[in-house]
Amino acid sequence: MTLFESAVRPVLFRVGGGDAEKAHEFTLARLARLPGPVRAAMRARYTVDAPVEAFGVRFPNPVGLAAGMDKNGRALPAWPALGFGFVEVGTVTAHAQPGNDKPRLFRLRDSEAIINRMGFNNAGAAALAARLDELGPIGVPLGISLGKSKVTPLEEAVDDYLTSHKLLHPHADYIAVNVSSPNTPGLRTLQDKTAIADLLTALVGPKPVLVKIAPDLTEPAIAELLEVCLSHGAAGVIATNTTLARDGLAAADVSRAGEPGGLSGRPLTEKARKVVHFVHTETGGRLPIIGVGGVMCADDAARLFDAGAALVQLYSGFIYRGPALVRAAASVRRAVSSGPSAYPGSAAAL
Ligand SMILES: Cc1cc2nc3c(=O)[nH]c(=O)nc-3n(C[C@H](O)[C@H](O)[C@H](O)COP(=O)(O)O)c2cc1C
Repeated sequence: MTLFESAVRPVLFRVGGGDAEKAHEFTLARLARLPGPVRAAMRARYTVDAPVEAFGVRFPNPVGLAAGMDKNGRALPAWPALGFGFVEVGTVTAHAQPGNDKPRLFRLRDSEAIINRMGFNNAGAAALAARLDELGPIGVPLGISLGKSKVTPLEEAVDDYLTSHKLLHPHADYIAVNVSSPNTPGLRTLQDKTAIADLLTALVGPKPVLVKIAPDLTEPAIAELLEVCLSHGAAGVIATNTTLARDGLAAADVSRAGEPGGLSGRPLTEKARKVVHFVHTETGGRLPIIGVGGVMCADDAARLFDAGAALVQLYSGFIYRGPALVRAAASVRRAVSSGPSAYPGSAAAL
């Protein structure tokens, strides 16, 4: 057991009487206020040098922070200090919005899982642009995840994404098009062929655009979406978002299964790996993949790399395992990224 698991996690899990969102806010606020020398000391402890290049971007290591953890970029300088090789902020929307009613975030401890129905609570694209202006480069690549505002009808989704894109693309090393959150009504229908084609036509431009997909799509639906990604210039795929399924819960957590929202963490590990493998096989490696979902230990990361991921991201694993997981996952550089690349879509080690 690491120091985080034995000493830090029990404290954080008690913050706010065990309310997961209060613990999240508490942690983010403290990370945002870390003094420079403390960040430098953390960086010395946690940095892993395992450079890799994917979709034309150079990453100091292949393990990133997944979208949703730091939606408004509040604690941005802290993440590279914790060892992350890249950070995805957002999901942000064109309009600032409060998200769903609370409570909307639940830890399922025995299952090492989380259920969330946050609903894209965020300060809006303009506020993130101002924050990034003020901050300047953070020293590692920055992905910016865009979603649709709740008030915007689905038929006007393209304009909504475009508004955010115009404000934010100058700050981004890549743009993630989030069409897979289960918590915005109708959003996942944007994964349909015509909708994603329209979105990509509007957004593909100066910065690489990656599409984030749901783990609940059927293989034929993923195959159809991949065709559009390939024909419309997407730079890659992020697989996967949270799942609506409730398989793999520990007995103690089954009573929570009825909470609406997306499930992440350990119950998602195998599902996400299968989607990554399918995307890699189906595209012959032509679309670089950011693998995300249930990476709870270094071996899970290794298996995602083996399945074809060029990069991986952490969310739930970081909540349960802390920064030691970033280091461990970044240290398992795999064959797919360590030799001359067999496929143009694979990551190339530097
Ligand atoms: C509380 C919470 C909020 C999230 N918010 C977002 C989001 O805004 N945009 C997004 O693309 N994914 C979001 N996600 C999904 C994660 O980025 C990730 O795809 C998913 O949790 C699976 O990874 P994990 O098993 O490592 O958590 C969120 C996940 C959680 C737990």
